[in-house]
Amino acid sequence: MTMKKIAVLTSGGDAPGMNAAIRSVVLAAHHYKLETIGFFSGYNGLIEDNSTKLTPSSVNGIIHRGGTILKSARCPAMLFEEGLKKAVETLQKEKVDALIVIGGDGSFNGLLALNNHWSGQVIGIPGTIDNDIDGTDFTIGFSTAVNTGIEAIDKIRDTAEAFERIFIVELMGKHSGHITFNVGIACAAEQILSFENFSQEDEQEKLNHLAIEIKQAQQNRHASYIIVIAENLWPGGATQLAKQLKQTENIDCTACILGYIQRGGSPVAKDRILATKMGVAAVQELIAGNSNVMVAERNNQLLTVPLSVAIQHVEKVSENLVSAQENILALTAQ
Ligand code: F6P
Repeated sequence: MTMKKIAVLTSGGDAPGMNAAIRSVVLAAHHYKLETIGFFSGYNGLIEDNSTKLTPSSVNGIIHRGGTILKSARCPAMLFEEGLKKAVETLQKEKVDALIVIGGDGSFNGLLALNNHWSGQVIGIPGTIDNDIDGTDFTIGFSTAVNTGIEAIDKIRDTAEAFERIFIVELMGKHSGHITFNVGIACAAEQILSFENFSQEDEQEKLNHLAIEIKQAQQNRHASYIIVIAENLWPGGATQLAKQLKQTENIDCTACILGYIQRGGSPVAKDRILATKMGVAAVQELIAGNSNVMVAERNNQLLTVPLSVAIQHVEKVSENLVSAQENILALTAQ
């Protein structure tokens, strides 16, 4: 084995469990007698040569912490030749043999570009709350974000019940509906508006349909009514939908954007364990000589997926989940 030194960085939106993944990478590398350094603030650390040596003691006591000890950033410079050149210069100067990037699709695009300019090995670990990476059942951070969403909406439900109010709650996910659908189902939301069951052309139809459903629920004396909606779905988001329901149907709704609380907090067990398994697997893949792939988990089996496949956005929210909601809605409407 000629590999001696590896580097790790976290990039894009931070996700709970990124620290657990860093810890796992560092401990596995130490086990295999590899030196590890961590670059700060995503790819910016590569471009600016800003790194730190990582040892088992530097990752002690971080498995339960949200955010990332290496900090994160989005780095548009990686889209350009100049940025890539600087990143390669740093990797060569620091004598890094392989790079592990923990992040989402934007981060993997950066890694693919780097791979075309650098002869070292590159491996991705899927870390994003959005779960919008193909080839893996779950990304690190998704389960925590779903639990955070559930906790928040359970609380909103109390207020909604007490005041007999209608709430429209907007959830994160960039352009995917995984968080919205899972949170919606787990909170027994009366309506789930997501990419899987809505298209822009249906806007007016959806508005009419929502108004009918809400009025029906009010007639049936349902105390509360919660609509969950995916961000970037409805033009103007939850706030605009609430306005439209008032203007066109005289229905009072309270819009609530959950926002960044979904990215923070201590990772749940599932994310800590997934991150730990993936961190070890990433180091082992490097030792096996693999490159240009992401470590993934499918049906409880660890595997690798080409980075170019991981970023395709072909996989959607499970049809079972969508059909479960449709069937439940049909029942609760009666
Ligand atoms: O990718 C994670 C995510 O939180 C998305 O859900 C959201 O659309 C986006 O990042 C927000 O990005 P930023 O931190 O740049 O505002």
